[in-house]
Amino acid sequence: MCSIIGYYGNEIAAPILVKGLKRMEYRGYDSVGVATESENQIELKKGTGKVSEVNSKVQLDTLPGKVGIGHTRWATHGKVTDANAHPHPSNSGKIAIVHNGIIENFEELKSQLENEGYSFKSETDSEIIANLLQKNYEQTNDVKETILKTVSQIKGHYAFVAMFEDGQLAAARFHEPLIIGVGQDDFFLSSDVLGFIEYTDDAIYMENGTFVLLDKNKFQIFNFEGEHIGYGITKVSKEFGDAYKGDYAHFTLKEIYEQPETILKAGEKTFDAIENTADYIRHAKNIYITGSGTSYNSALIAKQILSKYVKIKAEPIMSSELQFNPETIEENSILIAISQSGESADVLEAIKIAKKANCKIIGIVNLLTSSLAREADVVIGLNCGPEIGVAATKSFTAQLVILYKIVQRLSNNEITINFDEFSESVSKTLDNPSNIKEIGKELKDISDIYILGRGINYPIATESALKLKELTYIHAEGIPGGELKHGPLALMDSNVFVIILNPNDSTYSDTLTSAREIKARGAKIIGVSDVKSDVYDYWIEIPKVSEVLYPISEIVPIQLLTYYAALEKNTDPDYPRNLAKSVTVK
Ligand code: G6P
Repeated sequence: MCSIIGYYGNEIAAPILVKGLKRMEYRGYDSVGVATESENQIELKKGTGKVSEVNSKVQLDTLPGKVGIGHTRWATHGKVTDANAHPHPSNSGKIAIVHNGIIENFEELKSQLENEGYSFKSETDSEIIANLLQKNYEQTNDVKETILKTVSQIKGHYAFVAMFEDGQLAAARFHEPLIIGVGQDDFFLSSDVLGFIEYTDDAIYMENGTFVLLDKNKFQIFNFEGEHIGYGITKVSKEFGDAYKGDYAHFTLKEIYEQPETILKAGEKTFDAIENTADYIRHAKNIYITGSGTSYNSALIAKQILSKYVKIKAEPIMSSELQFNPETIEENSILIAISQSGESADVLEAIKIAKKANCKIIGIVNLLTSSLAREADVVIGLNCGPEIGVAATKSFTAQLVILYKIVQRLSNNEITINFDEFSESVSKTLDNPSNIKEIGKELKDISDIYILGRGINYPIATESALKLKELTYIHAEGIPGGELKHGPLALMDSNVFVIILNPNDSTYSDTLTSAREIKARGAKIIGVSDVKSDVYDYWIEIPKVSEVLYPISEIVPIQLLTYYAALEKNTDPDYPRNLAKSVTVK
């Protein structure tokens, strides 16, 4: 997944593009590049590394001209090299493109173009767009005809921006996000509003299967049949501009510390949507809950709280697996789709399958302008503000709060949760990080960590393992407590650390026994509990809370532990290697 950006206006484009790319870096950050047009010439600079690194090496922001395009890359086709970085010029150098997505028939198109004498400098699928545009433009001499012809030839998922040597911009969208920012005297094309929010909050969310032509301060939008289409301008919440680290060293740390507030804001002002969801759940034939990564861990918790507190059966389904087993979905059921971004390709695919089976879709999502939000019959917003750190933190706890609120509603408010009190207890955990920081130091040279939990604590074990993998690159595995003796016990020796999730709930004494069995094999134990025990080598104290809230109480200090361990290991907590925040390709 990558970010693309384009600018057309009265200001020098390159510094604006570089700023926008920095803000969208969460989408992919292995290489970066910018191309601008000045005096009918395209100039281009690019390289591997993060935006600030490449910019200080090659000064992307000094390129001349008031029109330009830019890109940050998350490699799919071809290694992380300068040549594979975008923008890609066409052979003539008269057109340059940036692309997000995958061109499925690129090999076929590439060999056709090679037979016609075109050469390729990169291993990417994207470069074929540049040369195909050149070929079609040479034939038609018309930008609109060129785009129409090109989109009819490429297959796959894409959003691209093309810049022509006379400074015209064209951008097309097919199953990847593309937004137009409309300023006073300038226009932006971007994968995310963060790319232009500093300059304008007027946005046009381009429909799927449309393209835009931008020239001399006017723009026109067409569908892939070439028909002119209208558009609506959406006022984007300025809150999205709030994506700065402030006094925090990293976005991840800031987002962990925002949780006492985001827990209170989750699902705020969505009473109707929660009521509607409860209604759908009450009348559904079957309930499926889907998500990827962290959001799937929320689905696992949802299953448990629905059965435990309101005796409703629900089936969690990993979004990426559903396409191999679509018959799992029975007609006329409901699918609860959970996603921070609302753009994960696997989740959108799961929705497609469920819709085919005539299911209603409930979306629990942070980005209310996302594809998921538009596809869903009922939308509940996480309302936790932009989450930039690649590893999900505040969006996870916001998802859990919303799931609790749905369960509360289903119980006709018999289950009461005091979120104010709970938010205060989360603050207390965060106010005293020194013990957690010290434990983080112990993880510096560890290569394996296991996290053990039973019942509702097991999904927190898998979420903790995910955080450790993402942020510290330590091999980490969640173990359901009872399974210890069925295999994992063989792995326990003095080289491993085990985090024991042991709140004072119904799992407490069985889990303490597991901890003793592990300790007897020499492993070091980090106990996460509201009750102290001599079995723990290190104790992370969590507040005594009502049983339903233990999962959040446990994950918050583990997020912090993982963050500090990442600092010890010198990894970048905001931008883990090889990952991207929302994966819009399958
Ligand atoms: C990527 C991220 C994960 C995230 C998952 C689901 O894999 O690296 O951290 O949990 O996507 O993202 P979503 O936006 O659908 O919640």
